Amino acid sequence: MKKPDSYRSGVLMGVGLASLLFGVALRRWKYRRARRSWQWASEAGRSNVAVVTGASSGIGESFARQLAQHKLDLILVARREERLRDLAQELQQAHGISVEALAADLTDAVDLERVAGRVELIDNLELLVNNAGFGMNEKFADSDVDRQLDMIALHVTASVRLMRAALPGMIARRHGGIINVSSTAAFFTLPRNANYAATKAYLNVFTQSVQAELRGKGVRLQALCPGFTRTELHDHFKNRRHRAMPWFMWMRPDRVAAESLDALDSGQVVFVPGNLNKLIAFIGRTGLFNGAARMFLR
Ligand SMILES: NC(=O)c1ccc[n+]([C@@H]2O[C@H](COP(=O)([O-])OP(=O)(O)OC[C@H]3O[C@@H](n4cnc5c(N)ncnc54)[C@H](OP(=O)(O)O)[C@@H]3O)[C@@H](O)[C@H]2O)c1
Repeated sequence: MKKPDSYRSGVLMGVGLASLLFGVALRRWKYRRARRSWQWASEAGRSNVAVVTGASSGIGESFARQLAQHKLDLILVARREERLRDLAQELQQAHGISVEALAADLTDAVDLERVAGRVELIDNLELLVNNAGFGMNEKFADSDVDRQLDMIALHVTASVRLMRAALPGMIARRHGGIINVSSTAAFFTLPRNANYAATKAYLNVFTQSVQAELRGKGVRLQALCPGFTRTELHDHFKNRRHRAMPWFMWMRPDRVAAESLDALDSGQVVFVPGNLNKLIAFIGRTGLFNGAARMFLR
């Protein structure tokens, strides 16, 4: 007897759905298998060093705290020297490590060269976290052009310069990692924050391209793409719609840093922490929802 059309389409939909679920499960299984915590190498009697920019608050401070727990010596970079000193003192006492507070404005060419020179001198650099950043809430044509150029200097120029300072030593030692803190904004068009989305997209493509050059060299790169994270960044650029986002859209900075460090050796170069953020990034990558995102994020 001939089966009705509705029966056949039901079977087809069932098979399609099962294949989709199987594909997702397989991907997760492969990811979990590949995933293992970064091996924190250290020579006998000597801690390795991590450099974190933007360590005076938010995600950068969380990285500093977690790296201190791994017993890495730290160099913490930001403009607010007092905050860096307080954090350095606290981490030194709590973990018996050495922490250097390096005050610098990374949009300033002289300061950036000073920090790059310091990075070049480290012969046991384990990890560089290019995290310093800020957001804006202004239409590009009406905005302060110096702030726009500062954003490019901080997100792009400083990250590129410090990566260039860090890589030769890591390649020679065949070990090390670099995390460039990007954003899920990299996957969207963002009115009133155009340069933010553009500089973060730059970081993603740049990080992926350099990682491809480093195949087999033992150096791991990651472009970390957090979504909404509860930090001071949102106090500074005062976007009412961001603040109105429901609680489940937000992550804590310590969670972002922990997932990033956990994924460093997973082979995922562009890494999005949090399941909801992964979905948002996926939607952004399709390009289909840019109109809706424009409305939502404006
Ligand atoms: N919060 C979010 O929702 C979110 C989402 C996606 C991506 N991100 C990214 O995460 C990174 C960290 O931001 P956050 O959320 O943790 O914000 P945050 O708490 O405001 O931290 C920003 C850090 O960058 C430093 N910084 C800013 N301008 C600097 C400059 N010119 N020179 C040196 N350091 C500078 C700040 O220190 P000083 O003021 O002391 O210099 C501070 O330590 C940024 O790259 C941001 O784009 C944040």
